[in-house]
Amino acid sequence: MSHLKNFGEGRKTLEEHIQRESYFLCGAFKEEQGGPFNPLVKINNAVANVIGSLVFGHRYEYDNVDFQKRLQMSAESVFLTGSVWNQLYDAYPGVMKWLPGPHQTIISNYQKLANFLEEKVEQHRQDWDSNNPRDYIDAYLAETEKRKNDTEAGFTIDSLVWCTVDLFEGGTETTTNTLRWALLYMIKYPDIQEMVRAEIDQVIGSRPPTMSDRANMHYTNAFFHEVLRKANLVPLNMARTARKDTTLGGYFIPKGTVMITNLTSVLYDKHEWETPDTFNPGHFLDSEGKFCRRNAFFAFSAGKRQCPGEHLAHMELFIFLTILLQTFSFSPPPGEEPSLESQVGFTQAPLPYKLCAHPR
Ligand code: HEM
Repeated sequence: MSHLKNFGEGRKTLEEHIQRESYFLCGAFKEEQGGPFNPLVKINNAVANVIGSLVFGHRYEYDNVDFQKRLQMSAESVFLTGSVWNQLYDAYPGVMKWLPGPHQTIISNYQKLANFLEEKVEQHRQDWDSNNPRDYIDAYLAETEKRKNDTEAGFTIDSLVWCTVDLFEGGTETTTNTLRWALLYMIKYPDIQEMVRAEIDQVIGSRPPTMSDRANMHYTNAFFHEVLRKANLVPLNMARTARKDTTLGGYFIPKGTVMITNLTSVLYDKHEWETPDTFNPGHFLDSEGKFCRRNAFFAFSAGKRQCPGEHLAHMELFIFLTILLQTFSFSPPPGEEPSLESQVGFTQAPLPYKLCAHPR
């Protein structure tokens, strides 16, 4: 499915979709006229629109009440997934499915999202052309058709629906909250905001940014990596089950064991990071101020099941924030000191906060 280079409305590349959505987001921020506002809903809508364009081929306006409700349900599910109720459900689904509790809200919200995406799949099936895929759903349908005699391949309409649910859920909350953290660090540390903006002005100016610019923007790249490290979006990673008896680091792990790997222990390891508890883009800069990758950077996990959306997340972070910083300077509401406290569900999100976006 990797041949899907142009997709969605206007058959654009991924980069073009993110650029276009960034300008819509700037328009929505401008409506606030420099006054304090909570950017959550607008950012969430913008990020969901990028995934929507990729998965089902179109975006929703920021004042679409139904879509906003859907996004709220998704956010609620991701938050509740971190609750003890969900862990109990994962461990004892047979019993827990009969008991009331927040896990029932997660199940019901996921089912509603699946119904919404199932409708999209059905609409696509009515007029798809296997030689001309418009988006992920079309490309998947073509693959399903090609492999219809291969029962082992697992390409079914049901799995298509749940793959779109995974992409939608996996790609919306994580990136939304990372962008929220990035803006929060910008208003908390105005000097850092100015250094990122100075580099944008010097390397890009006012034209739309492209991913090829990032190689020349060492400080900005270091800033984004530090946001991902410090925000520690998925602190306990995803629970995984050992498929066979395994020995790891001298420990025997029997088949069927559920394992939770603690990403915080790596992202905040005091033997790996000079100032693990402090926001410091210098973690990703060498002595000459050039960007350097770090071995302990595991924000997207590692191995076969590591996040498949890492590339997309980096593109979104870079393009959204560069365009926002070309358009606005950001500050906290007058007289307020931004708080870096978080609320931990399945992901770690900033507490709701307000900022001011002043057109430049
Ligand atoms: C800043 C943004 C993001 C962060 C920090 C993040 C982080 C993660 C982490 C830690 C995992 C668990 C990997 C493991 O179990 O080893 C994961 C899985 C996943 N992510 Fe992301 N992610 C982000 C953005 C995205 C995006 C944009 C997409 C959508 C395209 C996405 C889709 C997924 C999916 C589908 C999985 C499950 C993969 C599987 O079960 O094999 N993520 N992500």
